[in-house]
Amino acid sequence: MLLKLFIILFLAQNQVLAGESLSSSSSEEDGSSEHDDDEHDKSSSHEHRWGYHDQEAWRSAYHDCNGKSQSPIDIETSKAIYDRSLPPIQLEGYDLTGHPGLTLINNGHTLKLSLPNSMRIVKGFDEVYLAAQLHFHWGTIEVPGSEHTIDNVHFPAEIHVVHYNSKYANISEAASKPDGLAVLGGFIGIGLHENKNYERILSSLTDVSIEESNTQIPGFNIRHLLPNNLEKFYRYNGSLTTPPCFQTVNWTMFNDTITVSRKQLAALEDTLKAGQNQLLSKNFRAPQLLHGRRVLSSFSVLPSVEGANIDTFPGAETFPRVKTSGTFDTLSRGDILAIAFGALFAMTLLGFSLYAYQQRKKYSKFKKDSRQNVIYKPATKEEV
Ligand SMILES: *[C@@H]1O[C@H](CO)[C@@H](O)[C@H](O)[C@H]1NC(C)=O
Ligand SMILES: *[C@@H]1O[C@H](CO)[C@@H](O)[C@H](O)[C@H]1NC(C)=O
Ligand SMILES: *[C@@H]1O[C@H](CO)[C@@H](O)[C@H](O)[C@H]1NC(C)=O
Ligand SMILES: *[C@@H]1O[C@H](CO)[C@@H](O)[C@H](O)[C@H]1NC(C)=O
Ligand SMILES: [Zn+2]
Repeated sequence: MLLKLFIILFLAQNQVLAGESLSSSSSEEDGSSEHDDDEHDKSSSHEHRWGYHDQEAWRSAYHDCNGKSQSPIDIETSKAIYDRSLPPIQLEGYDLTGHPGLTLINNGHTLKLSLPNSMRIVKGFDEVYLAAQLHFHWGTIEVPGSEHTIDNVHFPAEIHVVHYNSKYANISEAASKPDGLAVLGGFIGIGLHENKNYERILSSLTDVSIEESNTQIPGFNIRHLLPNNLEKFYRYNGSLTTPPCFQTVNWTMFNDTITVSRKQLAALEDTLKAGQNQLLSKNFRAPQLLHGRRVLSSFSVLPSVEGANIDTFPGAETFPRVKTSGTFDTLSRGDILAIAFGALFAMTLLGFSLYAYQQRKKYSKFKKDSRQNVIYKPATKEEV
């Protein structure tokens, strides 16, 4: 009986672990056929010449830049609301290995790589979103230049992969629609090693140092420009971070970060020119007011270690234990292990007690037999 229980518990535990590894491999990419449909997104805003040095001027020149759902924002990690119903993001078509060529352009505001709309976000939003382009924001050696900040701290740089809702014809049409855009954002920090994937772009920087110049680079797996872990992210409703600041972006900022070498970051900061002979750098907008917006997070900062009593944790109400579906989902892996081991321990104890009781019964029978004078032996408390 004990062995049977053992096996049942063991199987249950394995099922939990298997379920977990299944969900962790759910963000996949595949190589597939694609056609180069380059979008000339929002380049219609050339009548106004805007710059990063006077961001307040954007508000008067572009109505939406004065709105109440502007981006970027400061993400206050302690105020992010854990929402376990946020669906994980699933990408497809991100592997552009063998793709004939992608256009890399210095548009005077950023370094932009055009992307084919065969790259898409297939799960994570209410609709499928197709990729249009990716670009970067950065500072200088002295000034870290991410747009979003985490607890008021800037990262050295930030990548934005811009997607538009597949129900619209193209990104220009989608950009002004409330559900038009979805941007995946990643923080870029400094690491010890050269980032080989970023080098596929950065090695062509000198070819686009002049404003409005462009070049073609071979396709590669764009997924590798994003952080390894796409499961942990922040989500909020925001805007384009450049004029015309349309408030149509469903933002995803990943918690996991990307690293490039110091040298690679310096190349990004020091190579591109804007205008006559100015350096293209510090192309980040200042964080905007939340105006009551909520920032959701797909992950809980609560460690799911043994014995953590969630109900007594301060701020427990910000971690609603709502459930979508599934069997073991409402319990953390820690909870289940604790229960399994508890049950195992109880069974072992019971088994041992039974064994001890039987042994003692045998022994007392033996004693009874050997001691003829003892006829009746009362059960003492200790025997139970
Ligand atoms: C952003 O996407 C989520 C689904 O992941 C959805 O619930 C939310 O309504 C979207 N926001 C906007 C502004 O469309
Ligand atoms: C985008 O789609 C709209 C509507 O179909 C069309 O009028 C416009 O020319 C398209 N723009 C581009 C850049 O393809
Ligand atoms: C974003 O806007 C959509 C549509 O108005 C809304 O349903 C959703 O709750 C908002 N998301 C957040 C995080 O407030
Ligand atoms: C990731 O989340 C942890 C836990 O909340 C937080 O301490 C850290 O600052 C976050 N980092 C980023 C880049 O979001
Ligand atoms: Zn951007």
